[in-house]
Amino acid sequence: MINTSPSIQSISVDHWKPNIPSDGGIELARKLESGGVLFLPRLSFDLEPEEQKFLDSRWLEGKTKNLSLEKEEALIQGALGSESELEGLGKMVGRFRTNAIHLVRTLFPSYVAGLRPGRTSYRPAQVENRKTSWRKDDSRLHVDAFPSRPTQGERILRLFANIHPAGSPRVWRVGEPFEDLCHRMLPRVSRPWPGSAWCLAALGITKTRRSEYDHLMLGLHDEMKRDTDYQRDCPQIQFDFPPDSTWLCFSDQTSHAAMSGQYMLEQTFHLPMRSLYVPELSPLRVLERLTGRKLA
Ligand code: SIN
Ligand code: FE
Repeated sequence: MINTSPSIQSISVDHWKPNIPSDGGIELARKLESGGVLFLPRLSFDLEPEEQKFLDSRWLEGKTKNLSLEKEEALIQGALGSESELEGLGKMVGRFRTNAIHLVRTLFPSYVAGLRPGRTSYRPAQVENRKTSWRKDDSRLHVDAFPSRPTQGERILRLFANIHPAGSPRVWRVGEPFEDLCHRMLPRVSRPWPGSAWCLAALGITKTRRSEYDHLMLGLHDEMKRDTDYQRDCPQIQFDFPPDSTWLCFSDQTSHAAMSGQYMLEQTFHLPMRSLYVPELSPLRVLERLTGRKLA
């Protein structure tokens, strides 16, 4: 076991098809649901020899930061290349997706019934070189919340693999526990104005209705990123995820920021509230307790 901070929990899984944990995955799920990052230092996603050429940011189309697969058998999006190159990229990202889904289903058997695999992304760009607005700047601590994709309280679980070929770590900061950041940031977030959810959906800005939960999560995301003093001074650790390692967390709960690195694969999962072991720790229940209102 590697000695790390309490928010980073190292586990010794070294295979994408591991054995089912003897307790049925309860302990791991509790760690995740408590806001921890599960770190698998010995689990690597290996490229085939003919895939080495994809370790290059030239495959990115325009200013996008990711290539992505929306679902099984989909075409890769955001990529540049010939038909056969795009097919090769799609195969690599698709294999990662299959492995990631298998791993999560095995380590968390109780999530299987509700778990919905979402987008798979490949991020070949250098993190340090990204220039964006403060709101899109993922080198600022934040919890994940997306303007066009309301979740109504459904969880966002993400699995990441650093595939850097030349030894560069993916450097993250991990911030304070969710409830602590709420105490600081929630008072700054205003309530949505009546009718706003309907308007956003009618204008096509949101894909589904933005609940008050989604409104508050976006508010937390923005208030955290906007506040440069908070970014500098809030309780946080820096952690280097080495090449050939894998990690996962509920990114709607765990405050995180990506500081440097290149070449990472990521799989998103959506998980309904009913699948959780400790729903009272979820962002939805914490926010409902703090506001005294039903939010989704
Ligand atoms: C993020 O999810 O905010 C960024 C993670 C990364 O690119 O390492
Ligand atoms: Fe994020």
